[in-house]
Amino acid sequence: MSDAVNTETIPLNVNTEPVEVENDEHGVSRRELVMKGVIGGVCLAYTAAVGYPVYRYLNSPVEKAASVAAVKEVTLDGADTLPIGTAMVFKFGTHPALLIHHDDGSWVALDAVCTHLGCTVQYDKGQKKITCACHGGVFDAKTGKNIAGPPPKPLPVYAVKVEKGKVQVTRA
Ligand code: FES
Repeated sequence: MSDAVNTETIPLNVNTEPVEVENDEHGVSRRELVMKGVIGGVCLAYTAAVGYPVYRYLNSPVEKAASVAAVKEVTLDGADTLPIGTAMVFKFGTHPALLIHHDDGSWVALDAVCTHLGCTVQYDKGQKKITCACHGGVFDAKTGKNIAGPPPKPLPVYAVKVEKGKVQVTRA
């Protein structure tokens, strides 16, 4: 056994030849994987570039308004028993709406989306008015007219037909 240190110089062999890239078990090289990733990214970016405007269009206020307008009539089963002096909330298309049975026996249905910034309004049976909690908007509970606060327009009013066992609300 020798304590001598091996001082043999090992020549550094720099290989300047192109290196063969080993394929994985599926026969795909790293270069191919990188290229597939780049192509996939470009395709994803293209899809987003084309799809986003379409998505925006379908979610535009114009399209939403069109889908709201598409619903012409709603039947509220059992709503004919709504007590006098009270109101109920129902869905008219994608909008919340109010059905009010007034003290004088009359019925009114209105869109419940505030014409200011779109909060949902409520019927205040104490004041007998429709109020918006967001910025203090107030509407007439029979006509939907904007009577106080920032709302610039009245609430749309629907036609109401009360029958035995149901109330039909129709876009006027
Ligand atoms: S959203 Fe109703 S008053 Fe502003």
